Amino acid sequence: MKKSIIITGGAGFIGSHIVRLMVKKYPDYKIINLDKLTYAGNLENLKDIEGASNYSFAKMDICDFEGVLELMKREEVNGVIHLAAESHVDRSIKDPFAFAQTNVMGTLSLLQAARLYWESLPEKYEGKRFYHISTDEVYGALQLDNPAGKDGKGPYGTEFFTENTRYQPHSPYSAAKASSDHFVRAFHDTYGMPTIVTNCSNNYGPYQFPEKLIPLFINNIRKRKPLPVYGKGENVRDWLYVEDHAAAIDLIFHQGKAGETYNIGGFNEWKNIDIVKTLIKTVDRQLGRKEGEDLDLITYVADRAGHDLRYAIDASKLERELGWKPKVQFEEGIELTVKWYLENEKWMDNVTSGAYQEYYESMYGNRR
Ligand code: NAD
Ligand code: DAU
Repeated sequence: MKKSIIITGGAGFIGSHIVRLMVKKYPDYKIINLDKLTYAGNLENLKDIEGASNYSFAKMDICDFEGVLELMKREEVNGVIHLAAESHVDRSIKDPFAFAQTNVMGTLSLLQAARLYWESLPEKYEGKRFYHISTDEVYGALQLDNPAGKDGKGPYGTEFFTENTRYQPHSPYSAAKASSDHFVRAFHDTYGMPTIVTNCSNNYGPYQFPEKLIPLFINNIRKRKPLPVYGKGENVRDWLYVEDHAAAIDLIFHQGKAGETYNIGGFNEWKNIDIVKTLIKTVDRQLGRKEGEDLDLITYVADRAGHDLRYAIDASKLERELGWKPKVQFEEGIELTVKWYLENEKWMDNVTSGAYQEYYESMYGNRR
C-alpha cells in the first residue's frame, strides 16, 4: 500500500525536520504537512522542499475534526505522525486553556477522525499507524543526587525516566501532554488502533523558535542583550540534536511495535548555567569577539513557577530493540547550531518581529 502520511505541526521546529527528512528520503510517499501556523509555525522552515512533488501543505487546526476527517479521506491517509502542540512551558503557565485545547482536544480530534476513517475501510487498521510525539516532561522531575557522577551513573543523578516511570506532570504544558498520551493509549486499548507514543528529552538545533533557552540566548548574545537565567541556573536537562530525534521518529514509525512506548534521549545532561556559559563562549568565538567577553550578560531572574529540577531519559529500550543511538555529540551539535543561527539572522529577525515581540515584552519585559 502506498504510504500517505499526515505530519501535524510540520511547520514547527521538530516537525520541519521530520517533514524534510521524509520528503527527501521517501519520494514515493505522499507527505501532507497539516499545520495551523500559530506564532510557532513558519513555512520559511521548509523553503527548500516546498516544491517537491511528494509534498503538500494543509493550513488547518487539528481541533477541526470535520476538516481533518475530510482531508484523511481525500488523501487516503494511512499514517499520522502527530507533533502539533502548544510547546512552551512558560506560555502554559500564562494561558493553560490554549494548551488543553490544542494538546488534549486537538489530539482527541485527530484520533477520532483517524478511527472513523480507518474503521470505514474494508482492511480497517491493517497497514495503519498513529504515531504521537510526546515529551519526557510527563514523568515529572528527578532528584539532583549524584553531582560527582559516581558508579557510572549520570553526572547529576542516579535515577532516570524509563517507559515505566509513573506520570507526574507539573506544568500545564506537561499535564496536557500527559493527558494526550493517555488518550492515544486508550484508543489502542479500546479500539485496537495501531498507536505508538514516544517521549523525548529537550531538542536543540536549527529552526527552533527563539523563546526556548538555546536559540533565545544565542540571539541575545548576538545582540548583547541580558540572558535571563531562571533561579540559580542549577536545573538539569538532557539535550538531543534535533536531527537525531528526526532519525529516531523515522525508525520508530517504520519499525516500532504498535501499542508500545519508547523513550528517546541523548544521555547528555547539562546544568542550564553550564549550557549558557558554553553558548556565550561559542557565539563570542564564532563572531570573532574575545571568548567569554559576554559572560556579564548572565542575569539571574525569578525562577519559573513549578520549575522541574532535573530530566534524564533512559533510552536503552530503543537502542536494544531498534538499534537507535544519537549520532551528534553535544560539542559538535552546539557548534552547528550557533553557526546556523548566526548565518540565519534574517530568519531570526523575521520570526521575532511583530506579535512575538509584544508577547515577549509582556512576559519578560520586567526581567530585562
Ligand atoms: P513548536 O512549538 O516549534 O511547533 C509546534 C507546531 O504545531 C507549529 O508549527 C504550530 O503552528 C503547530 N500547531 C500548534 N497548534 C496547532 C493546532 N491547533 N493545529 C495545527 N497545528 C498547530 O514545537 P516543537 O518544539 O517542534 O515540538 C513538536 C512536538 O514535539 C510537540 O508535540 C512537543 O510536545 C514535542 N516535544 C518537543 C520537544 C522539544 O524539545 N522541543 C521535546 C520533546 C517533545
Ligand atoms: O524536555 C522536553 C521539553 O523541552 C519539551 O517537551 C518542551 O516542548 C520544550 O520547550 C522543552 O521544555 P523546557 O522547559 O525544558 O525548555 P526551555 O528551553 O523553555 O527551558 C530549558 C531550561 O532553561 C529550563 O530549565 C528553563 C531554563 N530557562 C529557559 C528560558 C526560556 C531559563 O533559565 N531562561 C529562559 O529564558
